[in-house]
Amino acid sequence: MRIVSGIQPTGQIHLGNYLGAIRRWVRMQADLGPEDRAFFFIADLHAITLPQPPGALRAATREIAAALIAAGLDPGRVLLFNQAQVPEHAELAWVLMCIARVGWLNRMTQFKEKSGRDREGASVGLYTYPVLQAADVLAYKATHVPVGEDQKQHLELARDIAARFNAEMGCDIFPLPEPTIGPEAPRVRSLRDGAAKMSKSDPSDQSRINLLDPADAIAAKIRRAKTDPLPLPETAAGLKGRPEAENLVGLLAALTGESADSICARFAGRGFAALKPVLAEAIIAELAPVALRFRELLATPEAIDAVLVEGAARARATAAATLAEVHAAIGFLKP
Ligand code: TRP
Repeated sequence: MRIVSGIQPTGQIHLGNYLGAIRRWVRMQADLGPEDRAFFFIADLHAITLPQPPGALRAATREIAAALIAAGLDPGRVLLFNQAQVPEHAELAWVLMCIARVGWLNRMTQFKEKSGRDREGASVGLYTYPVLQAADVLAYKATHVPVGEDQKQHLELARDIAARFNAEMGCDIFPLPEPTIGPEAPRVRSLRDGAAKMSKSDPSDQSRINLLDPADAIAAKIRRAKTDPLPLPETAAGLKGRPEAENLVGLLAALTGESADSICARFAGRGFAALKPVLAEAIIAELAPVALRFRELLATPEAIDAVLVEGAARARATAAATLAEVHAAIGFLKP
C-alpha cells in the first residue's frame, strides 16, 4: 500500500478536520504493514488558489503540522511535509495539464462552487486545482487515497489522468489510485445547520468546535447546538431526515466507537438534553490532550519546521524518481 493524502492549511482547526483527516491519518499509521508507506502533506500549493495573506499561510501550515503530531502522527513512521517544499508536485502537474482535457475539468463541481458567481475572476489555479491534486498522488504512485466524500470526483479525475498518461505514452508508470472514503470519517456538520459542513469559513463560531476551545465553551456550544423537538429514535434508521440529530449521534459514535444504533437504543425516547452532556464530555476528553500537546509544540516553531524539511527531503527522493520515469516516457532530453 502507498497511502497519499493532503490537507489544506486552513488556520482554524476544528472537530470536522480533526475527525475527517487528522485522527484518520493517525489511525491509518497504526495499521501500516512493514512494506506500506504513507505520505501525508499540507497542501499549501492548493491553498493559494484562493488569496492567502503570507503570515496567515505560514502560521496555518505550522499549526496543521503541530496538530498532526499532537494527535499522534509519527514523522519517523510516515512522511510529513508541506507540498511547496517538494517542487516535483508542481512539475508533474504541468505535465498532467497536457494530459487532462478541458472538458474533464469543466465537469468538476468544486470549481463551480468555489468560483461562485464570478467565474471569470477566479484564478486559473483554482480551475486546474484537481490536476495538481492528481500530481500529488501520482508523484508517489499512490494506491490508496483517504479523502472525504467531497474529494471523490477529484480522485476519479486522477484515475482518468493516470490511465490516459499510461495509454498515450505506452507505459505503466502510474497505478490507478483508489479513493478510500471509509466509515470512520463521519461527515461532521455545522452545529447550527445540519445541511452545512462544519467549516472554518462559517461566520458563526457557534457552528464549530475548535481544537483550542476551552472545555466550558465546548459544553456551551453543544448545549446550544440545533436539534429538532423529537426524542431520540430506537435505532439509527430513525435519524433519517433529521440532519442535526444525525450529526450529534454520529459525532458521539465517532468519538466513542459505540455504534449509532447502540447510542439510539440507550437514549431512545429521551430528548437531546440527555445526550448533549455526554457528547460534550466525549469531545472534551478527545481534544483536551491534543490541544495541550499542540500548544507545547507551537512554542518551538523551529522544531516543527525542521520536521517538515526532513519530511520533504525524504518525499523528494520518491517523487524525483517518478519524475525521471515520466521525463523518459515523454521523450524529454535529459542528462
Ligand atoms: N483537495 C483536498 C481537500 O481540500 C486536499 C488535497 C490536496 C488532497 N491534494 C490532495 C487530498 C491529494 C488527497 C490527495 O480536502
